[in-house]
Amino acid sequence: MRLFLVILFVLLVIGAVGFLSMDHRGQVQLDQRGLTEQQSISIENLGDLTGDEQTILLYMDDEHMMQAMRGLFISQCASCHGANGAGATGPNLTDDHYLIIKNLEGIYKNIKWGSIAKGMPPWNGILTETEMVLLTAYVANLRGTSTEGKIPEGVIIEPWE
Ligand code: HEC
Repeated sequence: MRLFLVILFVLLVIGAVGFLSMDHRGQVQLDQRGLTEQQSISIENLGDLTGDEQTILLYMDDEHMMQAMRGLFISQCASCHGANGAGATGPNLTDDHYLIIKNLEGIYKNIKWGSIAKGMPPWNGILTETEMVLLTAYVANLRGTSTEGKIPEGVIIEPWE
């Protein structure tokens, strides 16, 4: 009987330790930018991207990176543009109307330098160049994703390509 209890106790301890370590591994940790460690490594491995039209178009089709940028967008931009980009205090990024954007490079420049007088902060020095280029591709992809949200502002611009 005693031996049985000892074995039962040992098994319980092993089970508990196993459960705790599994639980720990199962948790996906996000950093303060909303990225997983794996996503941060993938982004770092891209090296230095430049905010030109060709590069932005290329990454618009990169599902893995666009998934990562959703986290970044939510952590940095959603407070003003909404989690889905459909607008809040900031304009709706999911329609065809734009206040200041005229082309893809314009999105990159706006993220980098902001539109300070109108309440959009600059991300230069907060995000890396590569992150701003990838985020530009994400924002470009938001276009046309929602018919609801904040009322369109600005003018309709040419399609990206
Ligand atoms: C503190 C609020 C705030 C945050 C945070 C913010 N924005 Fe903005 N954003 C604005 C405002 C306000 C405007 C309108 C600026 C203007 O009219 O000149 C704007 C404009 C824009 C535009 C141009 C839209 C157009 O109609 O031409 C883009 C693109 C954009 N933001 C992307 C982003 C991205 C990407 C992030 C996150 C990195 C972000 N914003 C974070 C407030 C914000």
